[in-house]
Amino acid sequence: MIRKITIFSLKRTFIANFAAGMDYRKQILLPIETEFDVFKSKYSSLFSSSNPAIDMLLKFLLQRNGKMMRPVLVLLVAKSLRQDIPTGIFHLASAVELVHQGSLIHDDVVDESETRRGQTSANAAFDNRLAVLLGDYIVSKSLQEVVATKNLECVHEISVLIGTLSEGEITQLDVLNTDTLSEKAYFDIITGKTASLFAACTSLSAILSGVTPDLVNSFRTYGNIAGLCFQIMDDILDYHDSKETGKPSGNDLKEGKFTLPAIYALTHSDRDWTAHIKAIRSLTATPQQIREVTEYTLSNGGIDYAIQKMQELKTQALNALPIQMEEPFRAAFTAYLELIINRSN
Ligand code: IPE
Ligand code: IPE
Ligand code: MG
Ligand code: MG
Ligand code: MG
Repeated sequence: MIRKITIFSLKRTFIANFAAGMDYRKQILLPIETEFDVFKSKYSSLFSSSNPAIDMLLKFLLQRNGKMMRPVLVLLVAKSLRQDIPTGIFHLASAVELVHQGSLIHDDVVDESETRRGQTSANAAFDNRLAVLLGDYIVSKSLQEVVATKNLECVHEISVLIGTLSEGEITQLDVLNTDTLSEKAYFDIITGKTASLFAACTSLSAILSGVTPDLVNSFRTYGNIAGLCFQIMDDILDYHDSKETGKPSGNDLKEGKFTLPAIYALTHSDRDWTAHIKAIRSLTATPQQIREVTEYTLSNGGIDYAIQKMQELKTQALNALPIQMEEPFRAAFTAYLELIINRSN
């Protein structure tokens, strides 16, 4: 049963989720506390340069660290497989966070976003030219880290992954030339631009831990599904207040992007939304048209549908976990999914 939702109920959910998020974080970090501290210090040490201009940019990024969801996943997989995790794992954890960091710097240029992690984005603090170059510099650093794993499979997969992330973003722009809404097209895009990175975190961590291909695949499936949930939640958060999320809200429709909540609501409506869709996709929509689509989505089950989808995916991800996985890891992988779907930023 799809319940009606308003901006006020979104606010109440946010407060409840904030408290729950703290507990989930604790459960996730419990088995990897030491390793996570080691990772953070190794990662921070990468952000300095003898070139003062580069050093200034790297320090700018260091003051804006994110949630580190991807390196945490790398560490969790490795520690669940081996008590003493190999050094290569720390390089992989840095590599995936750097790929993510580089892709966000570029994403803010593409999305013309002026806020990131509650602070000014690189493109807003400097300009697009510098942000594009800084993004490239960070991606180069990620490749150096992946080479340091000395594992050719890792090097290969991360190199392909960088292309896959761009492909997802390019497809997302290409969809602006169409005027139909499709859940399948949405899932294709988020698989490329977001889930592929989560899948790389889990599968490469398993590969570096030296386990069987079957086990690698189980972890890859978990990572891919966690990544899908991650982007669905990010898209739900776009309907929240930007003070909560630390980045602009309501940006997706302004950019011509219909995400799962709006796709569901508009394709299950008696009204004809063609004019709104055409205007939003061609970036010529009036504020009134954007408001109408937002309000319709909020009060016609769009958010609830997306939440229901994440719940279904969560079950699939948990089923993909290796049967032999024990506590406290099973609890940590469960909390990881809960955090993804209950977070407020
Ligand atoms: C934001 O990712 C970009 C998406 C894939 C939706 P995060 O929410 O993990 O960003 P940070 O690193 O914690 O800021
Ligand atoms: C995810 O999409 C971006 C990447 C995967 C790089 P968004 O554009 O929605 O991400 P945010 O909301 O700006 O973090
Ligand atoms: Mg984007
Ligand atoms: Mg963006
Ligand atoms: Mg977003």
